Amino acid sequence: MDSEVFKMYSKYYNLFYADKKYSSEVEYINEVIKRFSPKAKSILEYGSGTGGHGLLLQDMGYRIMGVERSQDMANVALSKGYQCQVSDILDFTTNEKYDVCIALFHVVSYLNSNQDLVKLFTKTRSVLNDSGLFVFDVWFTPAVMYQQPEVRIKKVEDDEVIVTRLARPDIDYISNTVTVNYEVLVKNKKNNQYVELSEAHRMRHFGVPEINLLAEQTGFKVIKAEEFLTSNQPSNQTWGVNFILQAKS
Ligand SMILES: C[S@@+](CC[C@H](N)C(=O)[O-])C[C@H]1O[C@@H](n2cnc3c(N)ncnc32)[C@H](O)[C@@H]1O
Repeated sequence: MDSEVFKMYSKYYNLFYADKKYSSEVEYINEVIKRFSPKAKSILEYGSGTGGHGLLLQDMGYRIMGVERSQDMANVALSKGYQCQVSDILDFTTNEKYDVCIALFHVVSYLNSNQDLVKLFTKTRSVLNDSGLFVFDVWFTPAVMYQQPEVRIKKVEDDEVIVTRLARPDIDYISNTVTVNYEVLVKNKKNNQYVELSEAHRMRHFGVPEINLLAEQTGFKVIKAEEFLTSNQPSNQTWGVNFILQAKS
């Protein structure tokens, strides 16, 4: 991305996710870790983005390392003092073992094929200590199928820019994926110039039996599936479900 486009992209990203409650999410993740692995000290974070969760977990005293494939996102995290490796989560390398691995804000949903999922889970088991936790929130099939993703348009602004984003979902019933096509228009209020961005994310959704099967095949057991943040029992109203897996010895 050239620097002007990235500046606009960061503006758009920060504005759109300004209301994301990183501190309450991190309190929840810390509570999950304390509930299932009270002695855990080290965390590996997949898809660590700009370090929103990682930096707060670091402040809580965890030793944490991120893995992020976007150099631009990783640069923001690195500039804030967050240690992360720029790599695809399927290809990263480490000599360390961790107590917990986390993948927050639907990072596992970015993996669409069974082959990639088996690869990620197997790799995760190999970098976790025995009884280590793998904690990740994903799109939940019952809610996606029941609610059906819709076309959405959203406009946000601050003193410098007005951002309009159109999101068009394309549902594939056979592969359990939804491709979300984003068209973003960023207007610079100072010079009235526009930057257009587009991106498409193909997201896979998962049900409980599917994650159970994946866990069994790769050396984990599923110890809890709960609504992200509330810990409520998942239902067809629960878009984001947090799965907590424990590494078997
Ligand atoms: C929705 S963002 C979440 C970022 C961060 N976890 C947060 O909550 O702010 C998804 C992140 O996962 C990263 N990502 C997606 N697939 C990845 C992969 N295969 N390997 C490494 N990073 C990946 C993207 O680059 C992006 O930064």
